Amino acid sequence: MTLKIAVLAGDGIGPEISVQGVDVLTAIAEKFGHEVTYKSALCGATAIDAVGDPFPEATLRICQEADAVLFSAVGDPKFDNNPSAKVRPEQGLLAMRKQLGLFANVRPVQTFDCLIHKSPLKDELVRGADFICIRELTGGMYFGEKHEGDDMAYDTNKYTRAEVERILKVGYEYALRRRKHLTVVDKANVLASSRLWRKVAQEMAPLYPDVQTDFMYVDNASMRMIQEPRFFDVMVTENTFGDILTDEGSCISGSMGLLPSASTGTGTPVFEPIHGSWPQAKGLNIANPLAQILSVAMLLEYFDLKEEGALVREAVDASLEANVRTPEIQVEGGAKYGTCEVGQWIVDYIRKK
Ligand code: IPM
Ligand code: MN
Repeated sequence: MTLKIAVLAGDGIGPEISVQGVDVLTAIAEKFGHEVTYKSALCGATAIDAVGDPFPEATLRICQEADAVLFSAVGDPKFDNNPSAKVRPEQGLLAMRKQLGLFANVRPVQTFDCLIHKSPLKDELVRGADFICIRELTGGMYFGEKHEGDDMAYDTNKYTRAEVERILKVGYEYALRRRKHLTVVDKANVLASSRLWRKVAQEMAPLYPDVQTDFMYVDNASMRMIQEPRFFDVMVTENTFGDILTDEGSCISGSMGLLPSASTGTGTPVFEPIHGSWPQAKGLNIANPLAQILSVAMLLEYFDLKEEGALVREAVDASLEANVRTPEIQVEGGAKYGTCEVGQWIVDYIRKK
């Protein structure tokens, strides 16, 4: 297979983990005889500094011409504490999602047996937890009408029936391929937008008789995720709720640095870690590259390269088993490996296999 990859490394730890993702993809391509080419493009604060736009036209074009985007992270502290900044790095990520029509963000929450002790939750609760959060990614408050005044500000949480239907369909399709249990997470006791979600889901449920559909308010869902994470198989929810719940989900796995995601829709799909740019760690070679590397596995699986994806996952598992881990997940007293060392260990494993 030939694959053209747009590489958007972004800010903070982005460039460091991006290199590891690219190296892993290249090792897989060499092993399996695929031809992968890369084109890098600017985004986030780096792009603001260079050309004044967090998602420049040239970057959009490179993404549109690619088969997939390998994205890392955006964000910079110089914008975080300046609410009056006119452009922000995060707008670049949102522009990319919108302009590529990436309405479905798939965020798997998995546990790794050898990292169970890293979860702040009790071992017996977390062991075996395995669910997918399908987050709607181009609607809701992130994109609704906004007003930002000194004395009043608002964001509008708007959803159309078509937007709700297409994301629920993605949820049902995942549920059918898994344990056939879909939980629609909303706040229908308060929000009109959520009542539309619930109405549409109730209409669609009979079309998927093999799937058990249930509904849960988001406050309750956030509690249930901690009390009984194994309850969930596929959850589907709006943009803002999905953003919040998936950070919570990363605690089940034990580290933010472990969770990959895929954003798909009408344009080029994007594969990215769920974590941010962790500016404090920039250049220190301590960031965990596994979320980025697992995003490569998701990329391969998207193109139906199952064996290739499986080998990436096997290599990641092997690195964890061998205690080749970045500091935040290292066992007590164990050697601490850097971003580079973990990535290259995985590359070597793939090459030797
Ligand atoms: C995420 C991030 C982004 C979001 C930020 C960086 C805009 O938190 O991908 O979850 O809120 O969607
Ligand atoms: Mn987030």
